[in-house]
Order: sequence, then structure tokens, then C-alpha cells
Amino acid sequence: MSDMVVKTAGFHSRSTSHESFAQLRDQIVGIDLEVPLLNGQRSSYIYFDNSASTPVLREVLDCVNDFMPWYSSVHRGSGLKSRVATQAYDDARQIVGEFFEANGSEHVVIFGKNTTEAINKLSYRLNLSKSDIVIISMMEHHSNDLPWRQTAQVKRVKVDNQGRLLEEDLDELLNKYKGRVKLVAISGGSNVTGHMPDIHKIARKAHAAGAQILVDCAQLAPHRQVEMKSLSDPEHLDYITISGHKMYAPFGTGALIGRRDTFESGIPEQCGGGTIDVVTTSKVEWAAPPDRDEAGSPNVVGAVALAKALKALTRIGMDEIAAHEAELTQYALEKLSKIDGLSILGDADPRNSAGRLGVIPFKLNGLPNGLVAAILSTEWGIGIRSGCFCAHPYVTHLLNVSKREIERFRTEVIAGDRTHMPGVVRVSFGMYNTKAEVDVLAEACAAIAKGNYQGAYKQEKLSGDYYAMGWEPNFRSYFSLQ
Ligand code: ALA
Repeated sequence: MSDMVVKTAGFHSRSTSHESFAQLRDQIVGIDLEVPLLNGQRSSYIYFDNSASTPVLREVLDCVNDFMPWYSSVHRGSGLKSRVATQAYDDARQIVGEFFEANGSEHVVIFGKNTTEAINKLSYRLNLSKSDIVIISMMEHHSNDLPWRQTAQVKRVKVDNQGRLLEEDLDELLNKYKGRVKLVAISGGSNVTGHMPDIHKIARKAHAAGAQILVDCAQLAPHRQVEMKSLSDPEHLDYITISGHKMYAPFGTGALIGRRDTFESGIPEQCGGGTIDVVTTSKVEWAAPPDRDEAGSPNVVGAVALAKALKALTRIGMDEIAAHEAELTQYALEKLSKIDGLSILGDADPRNSAGRLGVIPFKLNGLPNGLVAAILSTEWGIGIRSGCFCAHPYVTHLLNVSKREIERFRTEVIAGDRTHMPGVVRVSFGMYNTKAEVDVLAEACAAIAKGNYQGAYKQEKLSGDYYAMGWEPNFRSYFSLQ
């Protein structure tokens, strides 16, 4: 890692035009899937759930297949396969660091499963105590909230009624808890509204108050270039987290990229093989970063896939991806806002599309969100997610759910009844989605809003999910392990 270099100017010079975004679809594994509909016909599957997981890129899958003959133990074996695999793993670390403009003397890339694991690791490794303050925000998903509740005192920056972070409230909290704020942990882009706070401005404020900053980039990094910046820059990011499964590399690896000095001391939360230099029955000499924080055999396949995906994103061009998705988001907001009965949550102004992610939450004519999701899937072949998206406090705030109602559904859920869970419908775009797909979504929503759907749907009490009665595709006919 010490030879990790700052990315040179012109790194993004090979860009992709809009025309080739259409060609990019050929690179998406599964893009040509046809799925059965309730009416007995088949339809091209439209996938609008990229905030949860993206499909895999063909070149990433090919790379994994090319690597598999060489798959072997990493940092352990002396055979040639082990050495090839070790080289690939080390190269992957370098590529991931470079993608985020990390530099090896200040930063370290720690591979792990995903953003959730990365944030949990950091929450442990910062050696916090219950007198320390961690400032998060109301827009966080649970993974950037619950770990901090276990290790420190959490204070939340408020958001407005469109779910946008209120920076003046951050200022107040930083001032009120001066000297005690150890970390500001904030999402770089919301998985619910697509809101993107100004992370470097927030970094400057956090540093001025003597705190560090973590930016959860699970949603941001697939859509925007993210720069760590040098530690000497007041706007630097101390830590970021990413998930490969949201970046076209769903092979079980994500990363925590952060300041090296944090990981040079202390005992990792998971100890074991690979984390030490030498062990006696009474003494442990911990390894230098990143090894100290990667217990056990690493997921080398996942790391290779992630690095290959980042190389592909670089070639396609992050600015081009951002522009394409902004155009798509603007188009979708314009179309959806014209549908009677459809109300968009968060910022619905199409003119603001370039400053947000392509994540659009909405409600449809008072219909339960799970019902709308089921109809879109069953009658239109559109895959989306509905509910609260692992962000209960944020979604209930956006929906203006009263404390009394929150307590009511909380009690019901504990009793095994999710039928009254609040929630919304969400579409989230990837770089390969098209306006033609948005047209189908808009047509579907307009029809559903008018009550034009065929199926009789039943809600399952335990999950809260809806299913069309009498319609059960044979899932094993599509993929089976048997
Ligand atoms: N954060 C993931 C989502 O929004 C789980 O779907």
C-alpha cells in the first residue's frame, strides 16, 4: 500500500457518450431476462432496485471466471497459485485506494463484507466511550446509526420535511457538544430520497470542531466520484465505506477506507489468523494495517471483482454516469409528477436532478406501498423495493408519522404483525437504466392509480408483503440448486 499513488489528472479522459450508455446494457448480466406476468404473458424484466443491489457487469463476471483457476490461499501459501492470488489481492487493494484518491502513506484500504461490516468495525476501532458524542443524522440507514448507539452517545442532525440535512442544526450540535464530538458519521447520499449533503463542507466543519468524519458512501460511490483528499486538507474525509454489491460487483466484498493511524494501534474486534506478526502463549504482536483488521482468510474473489468493477466505472467515467443518471432522474420526476394520485417524497423538483441521486420514493393514491410493489412486479415485470429501506426513523419522519402511531406499529411488529408498517415505494436507478424503462414505470403507476390492476392481492401478516392470490411462479424453473 505504501506505493499507492494519487490518481493523475486525465484519469477520466476516456469517457462514454450517451449513445454508448445504451450499449452498456449489453454489459449487464441478466439484462435480457424475461419474466412471467399474471396475465400469462412474458415481459422484459425492468430492474429499479439498484440502491439495494446492482446487477453484475459482464467484464466483472468474466474476470472472476478468469481468476478462478488461480484461486488459492492469500498471504499464506508458497505455491505459485497462492502467489498469483496474493498478487491479485494486493493489486485489488491498490486499485480500490486509487479509485478514491487515497494515498498509501495516510490511508489504508480494509476489505470486508460490506458497508455495514465496515461501519461496525470503525465503531469498535475508534475506542469510543459513552461520554463521547457521535453526530449522525436523521437520514441515516440503520447501518450508520445502530453501531454508534452501542459505542457512544448519538446526536442526530435534523432534516427538513423533504429529508434534506439541516446544516445549521449540525453547527448547533458541534457547538453544543464542543470538545466531546469524536466523529460526524453521515451518509454521502440517501438510500431513501437520494439527498446528497455537501460532504466536504461538513468535513470542514467537523474538523474545525476537532472531530473526524465518516462518510457512508454505500449509495454515493456508485454514482459520483468520491475523493478522500489528503489529511492536510480541511475538507478531507477521514473514513469512507463502500459495498461491492451496489457497485456492479456482488461477490461479497466491500471496504472501509480510512486514515492509517487509526488502525496502527489497538486490538481488532475480530482476532485470528492473519491479524498478527507473532504469538506466544502469553503475548501477541499485532500486524500492521491492513492485516491487523482482516481476520481469517479474506474474500479474494470479492476483492478482485470489486477492483475490476471500479476499473470499469473509471473507464465509463463517473462524470458521465452522473450526467446520465441525472437526465434519467429529471425525466422520471417529470413523468411521475404528472400522474394523478402519485406523490413524490423528498425533493421532487426535476431541475435539482444533478444535485441528487436517482432514488425516488413515492406513494400512490393511498394504496399500501407493498401492494403497489407487488402489482408492479406481478403485472408489469418491474422490480422495485417498498417499505422503510432499513431507515425507519427517516421514513417515518418523511411520512410525518406521529409518535403514537410509531408506538402502535412497533408494538404490532413485536407481536408478529407487520400489516400496518408505514412505508413508501422506491425506484432507484443504475447507470444502465433507460427512459424507455421509466416510460413503462409511469404507464404502470398511472394504471394502478386508476385502480386498473387484475389480481386479487393478499397481505401476509408476518412479513407485511402482498401476493397475488393463486399465482405462484415456479422459482426453481428459473434457477435451481437441485
Ligand atoms: N440500503 C439498502 C437499500 O436501501 C439495503 O435497499
